[in-house]
Amino acid sequence: MKNPKAPLKRSQAWFGKQDRDGFVHRSWLKNQGYPHDELDGRPVIGICNTWSELTPCNGHFRELAEFVKRGVYEAGGFPLEFPVMSLGETQLRPTAMLFRNLASMDVEESIRGNPMDGVVLLMGCDKTTPALLMGAASCDLPTIGLSGGPMLNGKFRGQDIGSGTGVWKMSEMVRAGEMSMDEFTACESDMHRSKGHCMTMGTASTMACMVESLGLSLPDNAALPAADTRRNRLAQLTGRRIVEMVKNDIRMSDILTREAFENAIRTNAAIGGSTNAVIHLLAIAGRMGVPLNLEDWDRIGSHVNCLVNLQPSGKYLMEDFCYAGGLPAVMKEILPLLHANAMTVNGHTVAENIQQAQCFNRDVIKAADAPLVANAGIAVLKGNLAPDGAVIKPSAASAHLLHHRGRAVVFSSIEDFHQRIDDPHLDIDEDCIMVLQHCGPRGYPGMAEVGNMPLPPKVLKKGITDMVRISDARMSGTAYGTVVLHVSPEAACGGPLALVRDGDMIELDVAERKLHLEVSEETLALRRQQWQAPAKPARGYAKLYVEHVQQAHLGADLDFLVGNSGAAIPRDSH
Ligand code: FES
Repeated sequence: MKNPKAPLKRSQAWFGKQDRDGFVHRSWLKNQGYPHDELDGRPVIGICNTWSELTPCNGHFRELAEFVKRGVYEAGGFPLEFPVMSLGETQLRPTAMLFRNLASMDVEESIRGNPMDGVVLLMGCDKTTPALLMGAASCDLPTIGLSGGPMLNGKFRGQDIGSGTGVWKMSEMVRAGEMSMDEFTACESDMHRSKGHCMTMGTASTMACMVESLGLSLPDNAALPAADTRRNRLAQLTGRRIVEMVKNDIRMSDILTREAFENAIRTNAAIGGSTNAVIHLLAIAGRMGVPLNLEDWDRIGSHVNCLVNLQPSGKYLMEDFCYAGGLPAVMKEILPLLHANAMTVNGHTVAENIQQAQCFNRDVIKAADAPLVANAGIAVLKGNLAPDGAVIKPSAASAHLLHHRGRAVVFSSIEDFHQRIDDPHLDIDEDCIMVLQHCGPRGYPGMAEVGNMPLPPKVLKKGITDMVRISDARMSGTAYGTVVLHVSPEAACGGPLALVRDGDMIELDVAERKLHLEVSEETLALRRQQWQAPAKPARGYAKLYVEHVQQAHLGADLDFLVGNSGAAIPRDSH
């Protein structure tokens, strides 16, 4: 497949010049010991690396990059590894999501400004995947994704235990008096015991599945554990393949079509994937110029059944998923729902890639006619409480709460929530609806993963494990519950969520896609008059972010980053 769009070997605009500038570009690079013929016109492959010791999920990426380099050299290319901002989900405050767009700018400008013909994206922890895809999409060079792979299953006292999901579960047990703090702490070293990213079907695993279902990686990219040597082999093959992609000028825009996004949305439903994928795919599509909106998620994906029995929707973990056949086995089950002829980075169609796929464990990957959860894709809710939409993940919710009417208990911020939730005098019971305000893109800022608010102890002590919760926040992909998220417009913009008061009645009806605040228009208008916009950050990136971030239903990208500028950079540096 040869693409006639553009001349090959963009890097020759640097290294191919027979003048002073060519001397400068070549000579300084040679201080690393490269012979002259490395720069003689062979494809230069950038390896975009999110390695950082502060991003534990990506801590093995320097080693992984070495395998990519092997493959690039084998195929006749010249690899150059470069770092970009890394986002560690468990370390970065106030939330890694605040910096997704900043990291994407770093990626975009690093790719465009440097002499490379193709790019390998090394991605793992939650936000590193969308940040790299967004930045690379705005350049549109030949690009291939390589995920870092999940950790091995957590093991605690003879039981499998999953990243995040196990933490939320055990911390509720501590609060309910069912587990001691000492036992809880003892689990720390057992939950995360190998390199790799979270091994539940959280956001990192979901986004790795999105990369594979979009066709942007080689098959098997999503499930192979980081500690499995087959991951290194995949890295080497990825390095070989990107050189071929450069030779054939296969670009991101050749792969990231509307059909590819539809495949990813349906796959997300089939894997019981994270709600965070909604925001990230909308943002990536926005960079690529592919029309995609929030309603597409419901229309295309909500009736797809969940087949993958992984936490948080189910029982198993990513290591089990790999041994059961991984994503190709899932995509084979839902092939009639997919665009089978969509092209992928290896030059084969989706159908060709999954032709040989097999399922080796039917309890982990269910058959299409015997799903884990029917109609499990993301549901998009609308109503006077969320005029531009909100989302819920039915596969992680309690069936009896999917239609529920309850009295609002409102928390104006996450600090307000933490201050009052353990108060035995808090007027709340299991029928109430917990409402959290000011945690959206502008409000937090950065739209933190706080939407899965822990339940009050007095409810937990009754043995109740779920209540309806509503917010403009996100939740961790490892979390579960009847949690309405991404309410848009958010409270910090004066959206109706800001106008909810204690005691208001709210109706959630997922089947009808309805989220309704039972308060008259007159009362809401009065409350709106009294509403005051929260103070904005005074300086720095947070100021830029708050002034330009779009709402959740648009993907929460910065408004001036939407779209792409290609890879051309006509001016030289000296
Ligand atoms: Fe990095 Fe979960 S904290 S993937």
